[in-house]
Amino acid sequence: MDNSGKSPQLIDRFGRKVDYLRISITDRCDFRCVYCMSEEMTFLPREQVLSLEEIYTLAKAFAELGVKKIRITGGEPLVRRGALELLENIGQIENLNELVLTTNGSQLEHMALALKKAGIKRINISLDTLDADKFKAITRTGNLQQVLRGIDAANDAGFERIKINAVILKDKNHQEVVDLVQFAVDKAIDISFIEEMPLGMVSQHDRSAAYYSSDCIKADLASHFSLLASTEKTGGPSVYYKVQGSQTRVGFISPHSANFCSSCNRVRLTVEGRLLLCLGNEHSVDLKQVIRANPGDMDILKQTIVDAMQIKPEKHEFNIHEQPVILRHMSVTGG
Ligand code: GTP
Ligand code: 5AD
Ligand code: SF4
Repeated sequence: MDNSGKSPQLIDRFGRKVDYLRISITDRCDFRCVYCMSEEMTFLPREQVLSLEEIYTLAKAFAELGVKKIRITGGEPLVRRGALELLENIGQIENLNELVLTTNGSQLEHMALALKKAGIKRINISLDTLDADKFKAITRTGNLQQVLRGIDAANDAGFERIKINAVILKDKNHQEVVDLVQFAVDKAIDISFIEEMPLGMVSQHDRSAAYYSSDCIKADLASHFSLLASTEKTGGPSVYYKVQGSQTRVGFISPHSANFCSSCNRVRLTVEGRLLLCLGNEHSVDLKQVIRANPGDMDILKQTIVDAMQIKPEKHEFNIHEQPVILRHMSVTGG
């Protein structure tokens, strides 16, 4: 371990400092979004999944190594039993500035207030369409009204800077970008548009044909809104614009049209305890094996994490025109 007296930090071969950890606490989800999952999914058996205590221990190790922001993802994180208690515990870890959550919104109606009390700072909620039939078609099992009530519940619970995430697919929901921004403006929340990434095989659409770039979305929005470039950053990959005359920020996550890897500050922990060093590559280290083989030994765990930074790849190499190289679905990492 680093005995120099300075707090250890996670730095990779390219000089990038890693201070943001995304933890997927389950691969299960009550939705089956067409860009995220195939219709028939096999989920992990329980013994392969980290326990809540193991997730907490890992979160603590990362915080001790300088991680300031933890985002809890899934699958759908709120369907895991004990999620709330885990969040409360992680929220109390020293030196963590921000505990945030990405959810599909299905459970917010009854959990928003408790999440606020548990110390969650911000919530990102997936919403790709305001049309109930399209919502059903995209999520396969979701209910639009339930998610809309969830967004209101999060607002009522006092969450600030709630952000909608919308994955935009040509001819599925690209026609709705203006309505989605208007929705965000009316609710005084933010919205990010995401270019679909080729992770895992999906059955219902051709990713190449469904590609709709951030520039196309900007052009669609230009006749309705005045977007002012903003330098605000959240530590994520979104590039933000302010909608003039409103409190809303519109973000663009453009893995294809504007690669953001040079400023990457994050790594991911899968629910199997695999530390993934990049969303678009397979480089990983098995931390579950390390904690199960060395119970209670934080030094070995932390050293393994420090060493893992050496294999963080420079960038993702997504190609939507070919079969996906990365076979893991987005539901394994929560984005
Ligand atoms: P904040 O900036 O904190 O609001 O969060 P975020 O936008 O980073 O997180 P969120 O969970 O809302 O993810 C939004 C989208 O960004 C998802 O589709 C993620 O897959 C994508 N994303 C986040 N980090 C990365 C990354 O390192 N690489 C790639 N390619 N996509 C990412
Ligand atoms: N490409 C881009 N974004 C995706 N998401 C899920 N699958 C994909 C994909 N293949 C989004 C979800 C959620 C966020 C965490 O990732 O809509 O908002
Ligand atoms: Fe579930 Fe989110 Fe994947 Fe949709 S994108 S299936 S809500 S994990």
